[in-house]
Amino acid sequence: MKRLLLLLIAAFCLVACGNGQKANNTQTAEEPKKADKILVVYYSQSNTTKTVAQEIQKQLGCDIAEIECVEPYTGEFGAVAGRWQKEQQEGKTTEIKPLSKNVADYDVIFLGYPIWGGTYASPVATFLKNTDFQGKKLVPFCTFGSGGLNTSTDALKKNAKNANIVEGYGIRQARISKVSGEVEQFLIKCGFKKGSLEQLPEFSEQKAVTDQEKDIFNKACSNYQFPLGTPSTVGARKIKNGTEYLFTVDSQNGKSQIYVIAEDGAQPEFTQVVR
Ligand SMILES: Cc1cc2nc3c(=O)[nH]c(=O)nc-3n(C[C@H](O)[C@H](O)[C@H](O)COP(=O)(O)O)c2cc1C
Repeated sequence: MKRLLLLLIAAFCLVACGNGQKANNTQTAEEPKKADKILVVYYSQSNTTKTVAQEIQKQLGCDIAEIECVEPYTGEFGAVAGRWQKEQQEGKTTEIKPLSKNVADYDVIFLGYPIWGGTYASPVATFLKNTDFQGKKLVPFCTFGSGGLNTSTDALKKNAKNANIVEGYGIRQARISKVSGEVEQFLIKCGFKKGSLEQLPEFSEQKAVTDQEKDIFNKACSNYQFPLGTPSTVGARKIKNGTEYLFTVDSQNGKSQIYVIAEDGAQPEFTQVVR
């Protein structure tokens, strides 16, 4: 009887161990992760945003689609701004052509636009009205004269239906020659590309500007068509080939913060005005 009991216990153990192994095997067999399908969608009136869009497309090897107007905005700044302002006053919607790609087929949408009147250009407003971003990651990017991406993100949050909006990228039109390196760093930082990320120190504390720093500020703003004000305080940090400054500036329209890059042997340039 005792022997029979021992045999039964041994048989039970064998079955239990066998089952455990089977369960473990199923748990470890992982499905390979499917790569996200990425689409770059952009509007560009004078090809600056197009340059950024094509750079992202090139670096990620993804699809791209341009938002085109039924009646394209043509001409210089004055002509475009005049027509756009009139349409705004009349409450007109900018008509756009159907997009060459279907947003629903993608997981991640990079959405690019020039800043018009502090927000995304009107053809992008129409695109947003027509699109549902349910289940999609939306990566905004823009080009601008002085302001940055941040002035457009509140409107984007309100109007990009169901989108999961993540960190974006912006570059001044005057600095478009720097797009390749900047886009690469942005894509690495946000996990879309592998590579090494330049580590930047924090800005030093704000202190009163010296004459030399004032000179750097004035040189950085000298090519810009509108007055940007007078710097009162500044912080600085070392970057790869020089120094980056963060000026606090007083102007007619109130205080702003202006980022300036001064690379060795090059004319200083402002990169963004935060109003
Ligand atoms: C109608 C219009 C309004 C603009 N408004 C702003 C603005 O509010 N802030 C800014 O920084 N730049 C503004 N700009 C400058 C554009 O954002 C900038 O030139 C942009 O790089 C143009 O991009 P694109 O070549 O892709 O059209 C404006 C340009 C136009 C034509």
